[in-house]
Amino acid sequence: MTGGPEDVALRRRMAAELPDGLVAHIDRVVSLTDRLATLHGLDVGLARLMAQGHDLVRAIPPAELVKRAVAQGLTVDPVERDVPVILHGPLGALELSERFGVTDQRVLDAIWWHTTGHPEYGSEAWAMFVADKVEPHKVERWPALQSVLDAALDTDGQAASLERAALLYLDLRQDEAVRDRLQVHPMATLTRNYLLRHIR
Ligand SMILES: [Fe+2]
Ligand SMILES: [Fe+2]
Repeated sequence: MTGGPEDVALRRRMAAELPDGLVAHIDRVVSLTDRLATLHGLDVGLARLMAQGHDLVRAIPPAELVKRAVAQGLTVDPVERDVPVILHGPLGALELSERFGVTDQRVLDAIWWHTTGHPEYGSEAWAMFVADKVEPHKVERWPALQSVLDAALDTDGQAASLERAALLYLDLRQDEAVRDRLQVHPMATLTRNYLLRHIR
């Protein structure tokens, strides 16, 4: 796996701090992001940096995430209060800029919203988003995700599309939310609505 100097340096620092299982997940996401960004002709270095940084605070326990969000002055959505793990996106972006010196706003925004996606996501952010949802272990655990990966690759008979893959993912999550009576984060709904309007 080759990479730009920035994501490699970030990986070294993160590997020393994060649990092994999380480092392994991040490695799989970086690897798939690289593959998707290359296939779609994107800025591979930018996409890799988004992937490398996306789960920086994923191992922090839920109650601590809420505490940190309040301390940072974030407006905590009621869904985030009930499902605090969503806060690892915003808090990861903040920590990445404050403690790891990442300044590229495209990277920070992509990481901020990586749980739900965002209507203003660029292509590199979509590559990271999709890779995070369908890295091999996640497809193994939930085989329905294979259709998302197929849409992002050129393996399902249609032109490969990261946004179509993201919409399929949000559809699956929406179905699951209805079936299991789970809340849907408002940004996931805004993102899905945006993709529905833009992908035909
Ligand atoms: Fe995450
Ligand atoms: Fe992740």
